[in-house]
Amino acid sequence: MSAAASSDKGGGGIRAAVFDAYGTLLDVHAAMQRHADRLPPDWERISAEWRCKQLEYSWVRSLTGPGHHRTFWQVTQDALAFVAAGHGITDPAVLDLLRDAYRRLPAYPDAAPTLQALRGQGLQTAILSNGDPAMLDAAVQAGGLARLLDAVLSAEDVGVFKPDPRVYALMTRRFGLEPGRIAFVSSNAWDAQAAAAFGARVFWCNRKGQPDEYGLRAVATAVSGLDALPNLLK
Ligand code: LAC
Repeated sequence: MSAAASSDKGGGGIRAAVFDAYGTLLDVHAAMQRHADRLPPDWERISAEWRCKQLEYSWVRSLTGPGHHRTFWQVTQDALAFVAAGHGITDPAVLDLLRDAYRRLPAYPDAAPTLQALRGQGLQTAILSNGDPAMLDAAVQAGGLARLLDAVLSAEDVGVFKPDPRVYALMTRRFGLEPGRIAFVSSNAWDAQAAAAFGARVFWCNRKGQPDEYGLRAVATAVSGLDALPNLLK
């Protein structure tokens, strides 16, 4: 079992559990891991750079204004192109394999059992992600999560990316709930802090024991894995 919460915020009054997708339910580094034999030996560092550039591009697109929005799939590909070029990964076949693997990222082993348990406790479940609908659809099918979700909510519907509050408003609108009735779960500290600012009850899934950021421990409950959630949301 995962570590207990950093503070006792309890689960009373929570009606829905909403999860970030990339990095929280889905292992974003699995694409490069899968094709590690075709990549430089420091593929883990390259994968981390891919993730950082993907996020940077999403935020720059959002901040630059509405005319500059691109889908998350587009910024994911743009980020791969930049990072691959910088590391001498030039074979188009390898880039195709990486793009294809990213569309079918595996879910973490604790994702499906946790969603199942939360539904058994009467909670509605959803994804709220910067991923566009086609990307998310492919991911939830590949990860075997489709039947465990009441909704898959995409930032694409508002044309701006998290952490913009308009994206978090998709979950209150979908479920007709006040933010405080929603448990929002993310492994991404930036996402967790924005959901807390929006008013959700936030669980920060800190799988790698990262240090606190954004003063998150004061506003969120830290867990080391998703499997801690069913007990905390009883
Ligand atoms: C998501 C990524 C950005 O929104 O973590 O799923």
